[in-house]
Order: sequence, then structure tokens, then C-alpha cells
Amino acid sequence: MADATQREIHLKSRPEGAPGPENFELATVPIPVPGDGQILVRNVWMTVDPYMRGRMMDRESYIPPFQVGQVLDGGSVGEVVESRGGPFQKGDYVCGFAGGGWREYYVSDGSMLQKIDGATIPLQAYLGAVGMPGLTAYGGLLRIGEPKEGETVLVSAASGAVGAIVCQIAKIKGCRVVGTAGSDAKCAWLRDEIGIDAAINYKTCGGLEAAIAKECPKGVDIYFENVGGEHLEAALNLMNQHGRLIMCGMISQYNSTDVPVGPTNLILVVGKSLKMQGFIVTDHLDMIVDFFNDMAAWIGAGKIKWQETVLDGIENAPRAFMNLFSGENFGKMLVRLGPDRAA
Ligand SMILES: NC(=O)c1ccc[n+]([C@@H]2O[C@H](COP(=O)([O-])OP(=O)(O)OC[C@H]3O[C@@H](n4cnc5c(N)ncnc54)[C@H](OP(=O)(O)O)[C@@H]3O)[C@@H](O)[C@H]2O)c1
Repeated sequence: MADATQREIHLKSRPEGAPGPENFELATVPIPVPGDGQILVRNVWMTVDPYMRGRMMDRESYIPPFQVGQVLDGGSVGEVVESRGGPFQKGDYVCGFAGGGWREYYVSDGSMLQKIDGATIPLQAYLGAVGMPGLTAYGGLLRIGEPKEGETVLVSAASGAVGAIVCQIAKIKGCRVVGTAGSDAKCAWLRDEIGIDAAINYKTCGGLEAAIAKECPKGVDIYFENVGGEHLEAALNLMNQHGRLIMCGMISQYNSTDVPVGPTNLILVVGKSLKMQGFIVTDHLDMIVDFFNDMAAWIGAGKIKWQETVLDGIENAPRAFMNLFSGENFGKMLVRLGPDRAA
């Protein structure tokens, strides 16, 4: 591999408002050379995720900002093409939550990587249903939401990487599940393929709160928040006494250059004795063994399904990322970077 080159995506400038092609740069750089105890990984899949928008801003957060002129970063699945010691051999497939994405090759000491095989679950699912978004859904819903049979669960961005898993775990737990999504095709899939009780196209329903109220005749016991703004305000109005709001994300605000909208009714948290708790997926890393075991069983039993939207080639990674904010992704948004020989 000496003198060989790879392509990677750099942050060219910080987006103001919605990210555009001008914020990204495709760079050609040498493939790094692994040292003793390190591996060289050829990426096969990479993920783009909404949280990366926050890292494009220069501000303090739970995770450091991306630097202008530097390669972006995120989760990926790849094949070990050279091993100079450590736990992984040439030909192994490995997955990491961070450290390898937005580039075709990377070097690692393997400490943050997990070996995967793609035999029963496709490799790219380790970036979605059985990866970071899946654990987000599992930890958020089960630990914060504490769903009980017969309760009503409302999920926004319900057909997405996180939302679809929340919906299905809530069904497994015996809940009535109502989801919102941004197209009729997404709503049809939620109703007909994964069997939630009602799906609302928030863009065409002509009054979000009334549409949710109609589908939740006994009120909302658990709201899994992915969107914010009008969705949160509607949910607060419809929550039952002692309801739980699982604050996972607010994607409607990530590109906002104005003061965010609402909610104007936060006071309802007091009178309704609501629990409203935010979280980061890494808060629930201690659940990872239970998560893998449960997901493997549920997937094997056909109880968990998901959608993927795939773009090919590192040059399309910025487009994939932008899709998250226009809703052009249906399910997990992925970029395929090379042949998946485990498939
Ligand atoms: N707390 C954590 O640790 C954690 C971890 C992972 C993800 N998250 C959060 O979970 C949420 C979902 O993430 P994901 O990875 O599963 O993404 P996703 O749902 O697969 O993709 C994003 C979806 O958000 C919807 N959306 C985009 N802009 C919107 C807007 N202005 N109003 C309403 N909906 C909008 C679109 O779906 P529609 O077509 O339905 O509008 C889009 O497809 C995000 O808020 C993300 O930040 C949090």
C-alpha cells in the first residue's frame, strides 16, 4: 500500500443553516501505514447521522467540534486489509462508532472496534438497527420510557433509523404505537410492514395536534422525541398524567438560524407530573449485551425490520448527509464505499 492514495471528505467551511455542497471537500491523501500493533481497514460502509450537524459548529458540546480543513469522522464498517498485531486478522470485518468514517481507509489500534461477520445480520446493520441508532432506540425507550403493556407511545421521525426501532420495540412491549413521518410512502411502510397502529404524515395532515389526538384516544403515555418544535408542543398537550418524554433529538432545529419555536406549554410538565429526560446513546453502553441479545432474537423472529437508503462512493457522502435534513432518506442513511465480500 506504500504511496497509494485514498479519498476522504474534509469540512471546507462551517454550514450556516442547511449544509450544502460548498461546506465539503473531496481530498486525495496517502493511505496511512499501520505501525506495530495496528491494523489498516478498508471501509465498506460508512454512516451519516444527524448529530454530525452539531459537530460542524464551533461550540462546546458532549463531543468535540469538527475542524475546518480536517477530515470528518463517524462510524464505519470495514475489512482489515493489513494487520500488524492486536486482536484482528487480515480479512476480519470490524465496526466502530467513530474514528473511521468519511474516508476510504483508516489505521487503528483496534481498541474501539468490534469484530462482526455479516453471517446472520448484514454488515451495514451494525451502523443502524444493531448499531448506534438501534442502541439509542433501545436504551431510550426501555430505560427512560419504561413502556408498559397497553400504554400509548408516540414516535416522531418514526420511519428513520432510530424511530423505526423504537416503534417496533414498543409494539413488542405491547403498546399502542403512533408514529409521524414526512411522506405517505413512509407512513404506509410503518402501518403495513411493521404494523404500528397509526402513522401520520405531518406535512399533509392539516393540523398535527388534532391528527395525533385522533389516533391517541386515551392520550399519550410516552413520547419519543426526535424532531422538536411543533411536535413537542403537540405531545406536551396530549401527554397523560405521569407520562414520560424521551428527549433523543430535535432535528427540526439543527439547521435553524432563528430563535427556535416553542414549546410555549412547557409548564404542563409540572401539572401532569411528567418525566422529561434527555440522553446520549453512550449513557446506555452498559445495556449493549442485552441490546445485542434482544435484537438478534427479535430480528431472527421477524419482529424487527428496517429501511435503508444507500448512496455509492465517498464523493456522495455529503449528499447522503444533506438527505437527512430534507427527509430524502427512508430509514438508515448509508454510503457504500467498496465491495462487501461478506455479503
Ligand atoms: N441522543 C442520542 O444519542 C441520539 C443518537 C442517534 C440519533 N439521535 C437523534 O435521533 C433523531 C433521528 O436520528 P436518525 O439517525 O434516526 O435519523 P433518521 O430519522 O433516519 O433521518 C432523519 C429524519 O428526520 C426527519 N426530519 C428531518 N428534518 C425534519 C424537520 N425539519 N421536521 C421533521 N422531521 C424532520 C426526516 O424524516 P421525515 O421524512 O419523517 O420528515 C429525516 O428522514 C435525530 O434527532 C437525531 O439527532 C439522538
